[in-house]
Amino acid sequence: MGTWILVAAVAMLASVWPATAAESGAPQKGLVATVNPVATEAGLQALRDGGNAVDAAIACALTLGVVDGHNSGIGGGCFMTLRLADGRILTLDGREMAPAAATRDMFLRDGKADPRLSQDGALSVGIPGQMATLAFASTHHGRLPLGRLLEAAARVAEQGFALDRHYVGRLRETRSQLALFPESAAIFLRGLPETPSAGDRLRQPDLAASYRQMAAQGVDWFYRGEFARKTEAWMKAHGGAVTASDFARYEVVPREPVRGTYRGYEIVSFPPPSSGGVHVVQILNLLERFDVAALGDGSIEFVHVVAEAMKLAFADRARWLGDPDFAKVPRGLLSKDYAAGLARSLRMDRASAVPSAGLPPGADRDWFTRERNRHTTHFSTADTEGNWVACTASLNTSFGSKVVVPGTGILLNNHMDDFSAQPGVPNFFGLVGAEANAIEARKRPLSSMSPTLVLKDGRPILSVGAAGGPTIISQTLLAILRTIDFGKAPREALAAPRLHHQWKPDELHVEKAWGPAVIEGLRRRGHTVVVDASLGAAQAVGRDAAGRWSASADPRGEGSSGVW
Ligand code: GLY
Repeated sequence: MGTWILVAAVAMLASVWPATAAESGAPQKGLVATVNPVATEAGLQALRDGGNAVDAAIACALTLGVVDGHNSGIGGGCFMTLRLADGRILTLDGREMAPAAATRDMFLRDGKADPRLSQDGALSVGIPGQMATLAFASTHHGRLPLGRLLEAAARVAEQGFALDRHYVGRLRETRSQLALFPESAAIFLRGLPETPSAGDRLRQPDLAASYRQMAAQGVDWFYRGEFARKTEAWMKAHGGAVTASDFARYEVVPREPVRGTYRGYEIVSFPPPSSGGVHVVQILNLLERFDVAALGDGSIEFVHVVAEAMKLAFADRARWLGDPDFAKVPRGLLSKDYAAGLARSLRMDRASAVPSAGLPPGADRDWFTRERNRHTTHFSTADTEGNWVACTASLNTSFGSKVVVPGTGILLNNHMDDFSAQPGVPNFFGLVGAEANAIEARKRPLSSMSPTLVLKDGRPILSVGAAGGPTIISQTLLAILRTIDFGKAPREALAAPRLHHQWKPDELHVEKAWGPAVIEGLRRRGHTVVVDASLGAAQAVGRDAAGRWSASADPRGEGSSGVW
């Protein structure tokens, strides 16, 4: 796990605090927060053009695929949580799907999982779901033609954009892997000076042409047309498993949201195959047993109790979570009684050992089903009509599989690494999994992405989510705690120091900003504390009880928010 936290930390250290990190005021139409000012502007332009928050989110997603393409793009997947003006809440699953030819042991060589196979190149690629999700959201809930939003993003790809320091850092870290794939090297290495620096311009004419193909032909170009065929041809020549027929069979799945409550607020988040919503709600259920506000943000006791609750939840994640269309994910994980039982094992005076997962009620009969319906990016939008969107999108690790399908400019994900390649063997994020997340044909890998909405008396007050592997769950949780328990506005909620514990490895990650007294106090309580410069990147849009709107990109990064 050290690697990805270090990657996130270095990237964040290299960044500056933007002047536009937080925006508040009375919007004429809506608010947008993303990790990149060009993408934020695209979302605001969609609002100016008469679009709603859904159009703004689609504009952000398409533009992030250009200017922040190492994190997300149409070659990857996303989860979108929407609250529509009429009060309906939807969760759209655009997670990648394993190809039909995927097998349980496909990443094992000589009996051992080989991370190079699941992280780089042909076998690491799942069938992308982002474009299907954006098209679905646009058709059913948007107001602007999708083609118009594609054309706007195509112009950015064609004209180029100035790299930020974050992008440059990712390029440096990934250079040697990108060099293995000629098409990717031509775009991301030879398309830039040998030693790129912030301000250098990256143009992506092939990606612009692909966006325009879809503007003209619809997303069938991607799932049933030229792109699917080109991808199959490349895969066949490079030992991959993905076929054009896998693309044709891909579908976005509307799922039943995870719903919970916390101190009278309603929490709506993403269900499996994300673990995010389940564990955000589970941890909140645990913490509801404690007077978190009285502990005080910044106290040793606050960090301790949150970390202990995270540890219990992540132990359950490793045992129970997977694609609900394949694995029996117990709904009892959301039970308040179950959380109360777990909370009784939690001691305030010392870190406890959590040997294994718990046994949620109904684990043998009551499961999530379809019928019941930093290497990643999160963006939030809202409009004055009452539409709110929380969307987290990802290629998985930086530049995903590092594979660009020749002639298309489209970078493919490596989300096959989010499966459990071998029980008990950690993936890139140090996460272990079990049978529930084993590889199977057409199954979706488990995720931590947690696009979440918080409501009070039916009225949305927060749209939030994050990037950074399993820390997504922790960041989203902390933003909710800071909002509800400590009354912070989005910028302050996101700026406050973070912590993360994922059960295995038994390490409590804390940001340096907690300060030496808290860090030493946690060590004295028995925690193995790892201090990170910075943890993750979250974005949020909010509206307080007085009706004041506010949006914020993570103050640790180079993102921006805006109001129009
Ligand atoms: N690839 C990160 C996640 O989906 O959790």
